[in-house]
Amino acid sequence: MIWIVPKPTDTSGDNSTAMVIRELEKRGIKHSFINLCETNPFDGTLSGELIWVCGMRNDGVQFETLAALGLNNRVVNSPDAIATCANKVQTSALLMKAGIPTPRTFFTGSRDQAEGFIRENNGAVYKPVYGFDGNGVRLVKPGDEPGREPYYLQEFVENKEDFRVFVIDGEPVGAISRRSDSLTHNIHQGGTGRAITIPGEMGSIAARAARAVGADYCGVDLLRSGDGYTVLEVNGTPNWHCMTAPIPSLLTDYLVGCLDGIRG
Ligand SMILES: Nc1ncnc2c1ncn2[C@@H]1O[C@H](COP(=O)(O)OP(=O)(O)O)[C@@H](O)[C@H]1O
Ligand SMILES: [Mg+2]
Repeated sequence: MIWIVPKPTDTSGDNSTAMVIRELEKRGIKHSFINLCETNPFDGTLSGELIWVCGMRNDGVQFETLAALGLNNRVVNSPDAIATCANKVQTSALLMKAGIPTPRTFFTGSRDQAEGFIRENNGAVYKPVYGFDGNGVRLVKPGDEPGREPYYLQEFVENKEDFRVFVIDGEPVGAISRRSDSLTHNIHQGGTGRAITIPGEMGSIAARAARAVGADYCGVDLLRSGDGYTVLEVNGTPNWHCMTAPIPSLLTDYLVGCLDGIRG
């Protein structure tokens, strides 16, 4: 049995959870949903199980419940990896520690310091620490209102497209490039995705980023910088929009392997 935490942003036309469930059903693997908002992690009913988290909200309940369930169950991705990926500060810290190329980044609660970084870099990209889908990401010019603290700021990397590489179990298995007329190329911001074959260096940086945050599988967002690639963030509950690689099937293979691991 696989216990599934469905993605809260699923819609009838764009349903990641259902895509994987179809694969589980083809293989005759039982599954059931968990609603993390209504699961008491202390009642002992879930133990020794495989829990797959397609998505979740940072609402003061779900991350906490999942972390507690993680002590007695195999959770994919691990609660630590999901929490790390949700937090851009912690992700950046781990990428830098692992020596993975990432844009120059500044984090502060001080508006004065934030304005200093924006001035020195002749502008910077401001991102909400727990943001996703490009929400709230904007370019701040010197003299512009820098927004609300805390200030997670990044040097602006000139580009015409960004990249999302899907990594499963250390292997880059699919990638897209995304383009838009705005700063954020996310599909949810109106970007257009196109499947690409993965250049070797992009794949190896993405795999290193997955390892740095401890993700079983993830979506790594990158930009091209100079003659290499630079990692923007790692998504611990990623979408696979526009990928031609059979991600639901590959993800199911991985989950089935985890299930076999539990059964011994
Ligand atoms: N430092 C940067 N320079 C240029 N563009 C950026 C930079 N950081 C982010 N972007 C653009 O904004 C998008 C969203 O940023 P990202 O860090 O992936 O946050 P989110 O979690 O909101 O997706 C990226 O996919 C990219 O198109
Ligand atoms: Mg992103």
